[in-house]
Amino acid sequence: MSVPLPQPVVGPLTPAAIFLTLTVEPGRESEAREALAEVSGLVRSVGFRAQEGGLTCVTGIGSDFWDRAFRAPRPSGLHPFIALDGGTHRAPATPGDLFFHIRAARMDLCFELARQLDLAFSGISRVVDEVHGFRYFDTRDLLGFVDGTENPAGQLAEGVAITGPDTDHPASSYVIVQKYTHDLEAWERLSVEDQEHAIGRTKLSDIEYPDEAKPANAHITLNVIEDEEGNERQILRDNMPFGSVAEGTFGTYFIGYAADVTTTETMLERMFIGDPPGTTDRILDFSTALTGALFFVPSQDALDDPDLLDPPSTSDSPTSPGPRDDSLGVGGLRGTPQ
Ligand code: HEM
Repeated sequence: MSVPLPQPVVGPLTPAAIFLTLTVEPGRESEAREALAEVSGLVRSVGFRAQEGGLTCVTGIGSDFWDRAFRAPRPSGLHPFIALDGGTHRAPATPGDLFFHIRAARMDLCFELARQLDLAFSGISRVVDEVHGFRYFDTRDLLGFVDGTENPAGQLAEGVAITGPDTDHPASSYVIVQKYTHDLEAWERLSVEDQEHAIGRTKLSDIEYPDEAKPANAHITLNVIEDEEGNERQILRDNMPFGSVAEGTFGTYFIGYAADVTTTETMLERMFIGDPPGTTDRILDFSTALTGALFFVPSQDALDDPDLLDPPSTSDSPTSPGPRDDSLGVGGLRGTPQ
């Protein structure tokens, strides 16, 4: 069997992105499955019109929707987002059956693809969250710090974000997203030095603090984690600022891809519960998580051919698992693959 291709999880940072989260209407699962297989074609149609724009889209599938729509066993790392409540800070879990991470050099490309996706899923699903992210000066977030410096790159990024050939779903990924808003007024009342202590890096030059100078509650202290052998456990991030001056909203859309989703989950526990418990991430004193969701990112091959995720039943046995929850209760109407 040929090695499946991953979706374009690993790629260059882009100046524009749209993050779309959808819920699928009860009873419309089979139509949503069919629409998922059309996503690649839509990306080609929109992207080909301005190839220099480098349009890409990564599609994710939420845990509840997986159980409703697919007969194949749920991927080992897929489950509902684990909400966290450390007393001081909360990371809520919010709805999401499907997720689209749309990236391009130009917002018009992202917007056109979002519109085409909305049309393709019209009547089947509801957009429950839409964030338009922009790249800010020097790849900074709205707290004013360069965001993404320590991201793995190239082959290392592949290894961090994409599952290997011996896993239950090779060439796949898991993505966790959270929409944060910042209290910029309070943040800007801090001295630059106190802001730097909160992150663990210098602001202007983006240089990492020496270990002995990093406060225990600095963002990077809590997010640098190691396995039992002392190897760093990493994730691949592509955070984007977003906001509205009229609404006074200043935010960061956090997005983290990992082959092993427990890496991202451990980071979140350290940020929100603290390490030791109570020593929570200083940036959370100025940042509120409004959403939280986890999605499985199937390989490109599996996304394009729904039979790979939802193989036709090989048995007529009434005890065969998981009928597809189709509105007509007629199961798959597609032909048997060759
Ligand atoms: C590093 C900002 C949320 C994981 C950083 C850095 C900044 C930053 C400025 C330092 C530069 C860099 O290496 O990228 C933010 C903001 C967030 C946010 C504004 C949302 C309010 C998160 C979350 C996670 C996370 C939720 C994990 C679940 C990391 C990791 C690093 C990092 C792993 C790199 C640490 C290192 O290797 O030095 N973040 N971050 N961040 N952040 Fe975040």
